Amino acid sequence: MVQNDMIILGIESSCDETAVAVVDDVKNILANIVSSQYQEHRPFGGVVPEIAARAHLNHIEFILNKAMDESGLTLDQIDGFAASGGPGLIGGVIVGVMMAKGLALAKNKPFIPVNHLEAHALTVRLTHEVDFPYLLLLVSGGHCQFLIVEDVGHYTYLGGTLDDAIGECLDKTARLLGYAYPGGPTIERLAREGNPEAFHLPKPLKGQAGCSFSFSGLKTAARKVILENEAKSPRFQADFCASLQKTIGDILEDRCQHAITMALEKKPEIKDLVLAGGVAANQYFCERLTSLVRERGISLITPPVSLCTDNGAMVAWAGLERLQKGLVGSLAFAPRPRWPLEELKGE
Ligand code: KG4
Ligand code: ZN
Repeated sequence: MVQNDMIILGIESSCDETAVAVVDDVKNILANIVSSQYQEHRPFGGVVPEIAARAHLNHIEFILNKAMDESGLTLDQIDGFAASGGPGLIGGVIVGVMMAKGLALAKNKPFIPVNHLEAHALTVRLTHEVDFPYLLLLVSGGHCQFLIVEDVGHYTYLGGTLDDAIGECLDKTARLLGYAYPGGPTIERLAREGNPEAFHLPKPLKGQAGCSFSFSGLKTAARKVILENEAKSPRFQADFCASLQKTIGDILEDRCQHAITMALEKKPEIKDLVLAGGVAANQYFCERLTSLVRERGISLITPPVSLCTDNGAMVAWAGLERLQKGLVGSLAFAPRPRWPLEELKGE
């Protein structure tokens, strides 16, 4: 094993996963513990911020200890403590930030606040050899945007959703079909047995200039089709999910074509399109985009599924990349419920 020079602990608590991981600078994931709160939120059909905050508080110490056990290290061997500092549900973010600050203070090591979106954006560099700049499509429950990742802390926004994110559209639609959060994996599973041509759904903004998205119209149309049909019938569910997934695939393909053109105009040296965020776990979307990018002479790269959905390794890795550049946070850092990536400006 190659000798490491830096080991970082990362905490993720900005939504409904309490996660702690330990990562080193030679790209070993020494521990990666993720505790999901699905059960706590299930009765409410979505993530309840107050319940999330309390659950993070209840679980974080146990998850931290479990991660340290898995790593076989002691806290004295950690060179820096990173936490998602936002954007996200503020109660949860505070829990993770306070834990990381406390550890940093106690061990006299740097505290590194990490933008949750930057963590998704950089994760691919933990698992693959990807050089800056690259084009990023970040697709999760709350985000849907194209960015050029120029360097750590440097992002150029190309376009994003004007209303809902894909994950939200999938989660809400699955709920109407009677399935619990998260809906994305359920829709992908049901779609495997269905006919993608069975239902024709709208494709907002398809063919238009730029690379914005809009999913609220599709969400409403999906709702209408569900209400007009036998929503519990397995045949309907399979055909409908396959049609919805294909519709989103068509939209993604069209928007990616535009985004690639825009990105290459700005940075002709771009060689990769990186798909990140929870929705990137969808194999159907990945396959469709793989064939598209090949025609454009670039590669599609996606982190492994376990690192696409929220986890601590992505936070630890982004913290490590920041620390290597001397971008250390201060203990005065205030958690940020809103924190657009373009606002980082090298900080
Ligand atoms: O990145 P993430 O774990 O949390 C946010 O920051 O939002 O993403 C969660 C989202 C949910 O909307 C979930 O339904 C979606 O990712 N998702 C999927 C799949 N796995 C998770 N969507 C489509 N197909 C999947 N296999
Ligand atoms: Zn996320």
